[in-house]
Amino acid sequence: MEIKVAAQAAPAIATDALVTFVFEKDDRIEGVVRELDTATDGRLKALAESGELTGKSLEMTLLHNPPGLAAQRLLLVGAGKPDKSTLADLRRMAGAALRFLKTRGVKRLAFLAREQRRDEAAAQAVTEGLLLADFEADKYKSEKNNDKHVDQAVLAGWDAAAAEAGVERGRILAESQNFARDLINEPSNRLTPRVLADRAAAMAREAGLACEILDETRITELKMGALLSVAQGSSEPPRMIVITYAPAEAKAGAAVLALVGKAVTFDTGGISIKPSEGMEKMKYDMAGGATMIGVMRALAQLKPAMKVICVVPATENMPGGKAQKPGDIQIAMSGKSIEVLNTDAEGRLILADGITYAKRLGATHLVDAATLTGAIVVALANINVGVFGSDQRFTDRLLASARRAGEKMWPMPVDDDYREFIKGHMADIQNIGSGKGGGAITGAMFLKEFAEETPWIHLDIAGTAWLDENKPWMAKGASGVALRTLVDLAMHFEA
Ligand code: BES
Ligand code: ZN
Ligand code: ZN
Repeated sequence: MEIKVAAQAAPAIATDALVTFVFEKDDRIEGVVRELDTATDGRLKALAESGELTGKSLEMTLLHNPPGLAAQRLLLVGAGKPDKSTLADLRRMAGAALRFLKTRGVKRLAFLAREQRRDEAAAQAVTEGLLLADFEADKYKSEKNNDKHVDQAVLAGWDAAAAEAGVERGRILAESQNFARDLINEPSNRLTPRVLADRAAAMAREAGLACEILDETRITELKMGALLSVAQGSSEPPRMIVITYAPAEAKAGAAVLALVGKAVTFDTGGISIKPSEGMEKMKYDMAGGATMIGVMRALAQLKPAMKVICVVPATENMPGGKAQKPGDIQIAMSGKSIEVLNTDAEGRLILADGITYAKRLGATHLVDAATLTGAIVVALANINVGVFGSDQRFTDRLLASARRAGEKMWPMPVDDDYREFIKGHMADIQNIGSGKGGGAITGAMFLKEFAEETPWIHLDIAGTAWLDENKPWMAKGASGVALRTLVDLAMHFEA
């Protein structure tokens, strides 16, 4: 989809559909909408008075052949209450408009800014909304979900320079997010650890990033015993994917951000096997890794001032004849011994070695993203990402990034009282809690053992990385959550 910035006034834009939004309040025919009402000879006021146009969130009101406008249609999207209107709402409205119009065969649309926000950030949010909404999970379908495609979107009513900058940034972010979503949606037979590594390396090559793929020999030499313990149950070998972005001007001693992502390309649970019901969804257990690879894709173009490294341990978790068994004791790369009491708590095992390796590569700040626990779904449902952090200042900065990126994230505790959950009986630590409750925190406490004193944040995206149902603004399947937040964190980083 091509996205352009229009110079003409709204009534003069010749397009299949002119789109803007209406707030839910008494005087909703105001500003830009009042101008459209005047141009259309009072049609909008009449709709508002009849009760058809209320402004309720994501309400769609479509007018055909509106008089006085060069556009063939006018779509008014409900914006909800004006005091609750954010950039996240704008992103969703743009997305919902695109999905609404494309099912109706619209090829070209123009999104008209409202008087409240005509800045670069608004243009960026609209661009992101449109591109994220255009993504379909129909790669393997002979008959595409929406063979109908929007070819062109135009942003109207903005200052041209602000809009162009916003479109440029929005495109980089949304295309990187869609790149991650495509990887996440891939089934495990088409995306093994080796294929994920190849896809990451190809992306890095195109983007001009350094990339190193550690194979099973190298992983063994480095004594990554926790990663190997998960991989040994599968005939597919593991990979450790390392991508580096290094700006020319980075000084020695400057902060280095490491992004560590869980990439279990399929999680059967191993010998502690999962029930078959819903197991097919465990192809998305590599969402954390794919998200980190997508972040690097965006950073290659946005060029932050700091060095960023991405470390993605990739493996299957299978119950093969060589699989590890409950009670087995493994030695992680850091030297810590781990009692594996449940082979389904495998994400924390592979991340342990990912975190240790990231520190070995010089990380001063760590963020990991993982579909780590079902317990985070109990705590926060599929609405918020769970945020666990060892350093309040660092965590606060990530939460600020999440707000700017329009992604919902919520802080969770990792204080020392939880440490005893993972105290080992026969080894240093065990991979599941011994008490009841706090499953997501237990997973985080395990990871914290490997981050040690390095400021660290863990994002549990098990509940938010996958949409079970279509949203008006997004297709069901992979969401690509956390990517925009992490890009923002790297772009705004101050050590
Ligand atoms: N990949 C799962 C977590 C998960 C659950 C992701 C639901 C997406 C949706 C993880 O490896 C896992 O199996 N965790 C166990 C941990 C338990 C054994 C302590 C869980 O959450 O049940
Ligand atoms: Zn598991
Ligand atoms: Zn898992």
